[in-house]
Amino acid sequence: MNIRFIGSETGLNTFKKLLDGRAYVSNGDDAKDALIFEISSLEVLYKIPKRSFGIPVFFYLTTPNKTVLSNIKDYQITGILFPPLNPDSIMNKMTRSKEHTIATVNAKDYETLRIKIIAKAENIPTLPTIAQDLIRLTRNHSQTAIGQVTAKIKMDQGISSKVIKLVNSPFYGVRKEIASIDRATMLLGFSSVKNIALAISLDQYFQKPFNMYKTTGQAMWQHAYNVALISSEIAKYLDQDSDALYMAGLMHDIGKVVMADFLVREVDCVQDEREQLGCDHAEIASVILNKWSVAPAIVDAVKTHHDADTDLYGKIVSYANKIDHDKNNAKDYIYQLNKDFPIKDMDILIESIQTCLSECIDGKE
Ligand SMILES: [Fe+2]
Ligand SMILES: [Fe+2]
Repeated sequence: MNIRFIGSETGLNTFKKLLDGRAYVSNGDDAKDALIFEISSLEVLYKIPKRSFGIPVFFYLTTPNKTVLSNIKDYQITGILFPPLNPDSIMNKMTRSKEHTIATVNAKDYETLRIKIIAKAENIPTLPTIAQDLIRLTRNHSQTAIGQVTAKIKMDQGISSKVIKLVNSPFYGVRKEIASIDRATMLLGFSSVKNIALAISLDQYFQKPFNMYKTTGQAMWQHAYNVALISSEIAKYLDQDSDALYMAGLMHDIGKVVMADFLVREVDCVQDEREQLGCDHAEIASVILNKWSVAPAIVDAVKTHHDADTDLYGKIVSYANKIDHDKNNAKDYIYQLNKDFPIKDMDILIESIQTCLSECIDGKE
């Protein structure tokens, strides 16, 4: 440990001798681990800046002046040393406070980073109007609203052609190729068409590098889409709102879109994110989803999809996520979920999930 002593020659020699072999004490600038100021008078005290030095700071009091003691509270210091000095207690104080200072500095860094990440999440580009309408529909199921949204999907060439491509994937089990949005709505129901359109409208957020997540934007979108489908399938067999779960699944990793701009090392899990940035993608997703006025139950599910202690929505997304990452064990995950939440027709659900997973559904042209 390198300690810088600022004070008299006698004081410096006292500490040098006292801590000999345990710490290096000098009056040079290079000592970075701790600072000791010798306070021999009120004038000396007044010359010291009342700011944080970023390392442990100790005042070595060699004056009986009581005003010095009463003024010390205004300074950001770690402790006071009085003669007679005890080397063991000094070293203890120095070591403990050094650890404490490092922890505080890191906590401060995390806080600054977190603020920056949240600011970026709050400034994420607004959703395309079609997606905003689709999200609003989860709260308002009126026929007029449905009609308006269908019309908008039809009008948007880019979205409608991709919707048609996706509804023809084996998961939806249509025998004859579907060629129009109206036909898709008739055969699969408005809900499926609306969900697919929502998935497609989110695609633009994933068009960036995700190197620190060791994946690509295309794979990230695909994963979101799969988790959406699996979540909504599970929801159906648990008598839950499958549209809400679809949206939760679709958006569960949206926080990574913002986190990706800040990560500097590769990550494997939420713990790695927290260690690097002081927050994780689930927390950041909740900021984005609140910004997009997504229903609170969906935001909660997304926010807690990596927590052991979460409600049914969060559990469904969490299992759907595991299933998509570990496709071969899909059956085991469904059995596990069934222990907490009894699933009706478990075998049919497993079959349906396997159909969904067996196809690599590509929403891109
Ligand atoms: Fe996640
Ligand atoms: Fe995920």
